[in-house]
Amino acid sequence: MFDKKTIRDVDVAGKNILVRVDYNVPLKDSVVTDDLRIRASLPTIQYLLEHGARKVFLISHLGRPEGKVDEKLSLKPAAEQLQQLLGRPVAFVDTDGEEKVVLLENLRFSPQEEANDPDFAQKLVDLTGAELFVQDGFGVVHRAHASTSAITQLLPSVAGLLLEKEVENIKQAVENPTRPLLFILGGAKVDDKMPLVNRFRKLADVIAVGGKIASTYQKTSAKEVLPVDFVHGEDGKAYDIGEKSAAKIVELVEQARTIIWNGTLGMTEDPRFAKSSEKVAAAIGTSDAFSIIGGGDTAGFVLEYQKLHPELHYSLISTGGGAALELMAGDELPGVAALADA
Ligand code: 3PG
Repeated sequence: MFDKKTIRDVDVAGKNILVRVDYNVPLKDSVVTDDLRIRASLPTIQYLLEHGARKVFLISHLGRPEGKVDEKLSLKPAAEQLQQLLGRPVAFVDTDGEEKVVLLENLRFSPQEEANDPDFAQKLVDLTGAELFVQDGFGVVHRAHASTSAITQLLPSVAGLLLEKEVENIKQAVENPTRPLLFILGGAKVDDKMPLVNRFRKLADVIAVGGKIASTYQKTSAKEVLPVDFVHGEDGKAYDIGEKSAAKIVELVEQARTIIWNGTLGMTEDPRFAKSSEKVAAAIGTSDAFSIIGGGDTAGFVLEYQKLHPELHYSLISTGGGAALELMAGDELPGVAALADA
């Protein structure tokens, strides 16, 4: 299913390796508040170290500093978090130290990164002495930037284990699903998700809609299930789908063999409006269907819920926001297309 070379297909021993990760993580007071993306990068880093890589240079962006240095968007907190998770020293920016793992500063502090400038990619190679490029930043492979595109013209370029896992699982669910395939759509903006909706109108057996998106969603067929009741706030506005609607989605989950969930069903930041999403998360987590949770908010919500209910199981909680949406919608991802074919 995955048709690109991975780190398993190349010799990494003795090499300096440049690894693109996606450490675009939420921060509060310079502390990482959700480290899913950092944890998800560990298997590749560990594999490279165990297979004798000389040095692993990690590169990432954080936020959208628009080509200017912004200390609030420094990757230093990510280096600290990675050091703890990895249980070994991680150098930050200093490429000449003893440490085997080095995280460079936010790539988007330079305007050359988003401009996909080959000179910037060359600078990264010169700075690190890298002989191999590994793309493992699944969340950013829908962007054609210097660290996802231009760099692949300079170094042999292969996929990391996270990228392989994400693409393989998502493609499996959308291209070769065990049926029935249930697509649960939530979140806020229907416009952003139209390509996805259009694809699932063709692919899915059932589409269940919740979240704010339900108020503008135009149903086109009987297989699209819209909410029938809502939970309102003091201001009279609907902030969650109601019990009947949630029960209907739970019933659909119980019948499905493949489930893709993108977008929370209510405003889950407020526990009063998280009930339907909790019920659906519990139903998916206890079902033995193949399940993919995609999209930043949904993944974050489900991970938090799973912390309280560790018995729940999901086939893949995706680290990708836009990248996962584009892959599900059937788009080619430039950061994947640029890698060596298997
Ligand atoms: C994400 O968080 O979706 C990725 O890191 C990509 O970030 P971007 O939308 O700023 O390119």
